[in-house]
Amino acid sequence: MGLPWIGETMDFYQAQRRNRLFEEFVQPRIAKYGNIFKTRLMGSPTVVVNGADANRFFLSNEFKLVISSWPSASVQLMGKDSITEKQGEAHRCLRGVIATTFSFAGLETIVPKICSSVQLHLDKHWHGHDMVSLYRMTKILTFNIVFECLLGMDVEQGMLATFERVLEGVFAPPFSFPGSSFSKAKKARQEIEKMLVEVVRKKRKDMEGGLEVGEQDGMLLSQLVAELIQGEIREEEVIDNVVLLVFAAHDTTSFAIAMTFKMLAHHPNCYSLLLQEHVGIKNNKRAGENLTLEDTKKMKYTWQVLLWTTYGTHYNAEYFRDPLSFDPTRFEEAVPPYVYLPFGGGPRVCAGYQLAKLNILVFVHFLVTRFNWSLLYPEEPITMDPLPFPSLGMPIQISPKLS
Ligand code: HEM
Repeated sequence: MGLPWIGETMDFYQAQRRNRLFEEFVQPRIAKYGNIFKTRLMGSPTVVVNGADANRFFLSNEFKLVISSWPSASVQLMGKDSITEKQGEAHRCLRGVIATTFSFAGLETIVPKICSSVQLHLDKHWHGHDMVSLYRMTKILTFNIVFECLLGMDVEQGMLATFERVLEGVFAPPFSFPGSSFSKAKKARQEIEKMLVEVVRKKRKDMEGGLEVGEQDGMLLSQLVAELIQGEIREEEVIDNVVLLVFAAHDTTSFAIAMTFKMLAHHPNCYSLLLQEHVGIKNNKRAGENLTLEDTKKMKYTWQVLLWTTYGTHYNAEYFRDPLSFDPTRFEEAVPPYVYLPFGGGPRVCAGYQLAKLNILVFVHFLVTRFNWSLLYPEEPITMDPLPFPSLGMPIQISPKLS
């Protein structure tokens, strides 16, 4: 388990920074100790598991035989009342509130909202430019989509930067000395909390006074405040879960989009197939007509490309033929349970899966049908600190399509 407290954290960080976590940290330990091994990371005893059997055992036994936990810095910054800290009935109750937003009717109403956010984003940040940072832009867009389309809140100037300061401390050592990432993150978290408390109290007052329709608007913040009014949850739980949702949605979705375009740039044949899928959908629409949930269901190939690019165990030759070749069609057939888990599994499976999927599909649709694009640095390295990101922000050259 390495040194006291620090354990093998330094080896872990070094491998992570080189984006070789599996090759340099995990694989050598699997070779030495087997598919499940113990270590100590960021002050916590940690068990690393690998393979479908171990995945099934741990994920399906959450709350029964095992309880997953996050590093101390994450808990302090996301808040001890966020869904990741809840267990059993309290966890089930919060999952239920989130699931209401993603019911079939909820998803049908969310698609046109995402379309408007994406189109507005492209008009504002892409139109008239010949180069943009894809990763940076998708971070801005994802942030706006979570607030506008999921929570039903406006994004104010400077909010993204404050949230990003919190995120920078989430996996940092939890030391609060002046200037440390963690203390800057804690300060940013206090600013966010102050802003959210005001928003939540105003919303509560408006809903109680009948000035707002409340949870019928389908927005997650309204659902959470409705639970607050009924005394089912506390104000701290509303705030912590809003912070957590932004965190959970932000880097994950933008990185998945960036990796999708990286792979498409390297595989022009796959790009042709993907483009065909989107042009087909666009040609069936009148000018200015919005996409529907039904249209996104036709974007099957696009989703297979995305699945290939998300981190996971699909590089395992035991389950996938020729695992390292880029072949999105491998996901045409259902993958056996617990083999490939880009969105987790068991009771803690990603609660925002549908939003992530719609956000990505709608964005890809409008980007590829409105712009020609190419990577400026096709060999740009991916680095991790601690989450993966393209080291130069993935600049791309763009030009508007004529039709
Ligand atoms: C491509 C994008 C995404 C990926 C790859 C992803 C992946 C994951 C994974 C692997 C987990 C399981 C973590 C665990 O086992 O503790 C998870 C949990 C979660 N995700 Fe996502 N996610 C994505 C997007 C989103 C979005 C857009 C949202 C929200 C709007 C979201 C909300 C959540 C929440 C709330 C949890 C915690 C669930 C719980 O503890 O019950 N995710 N996600």
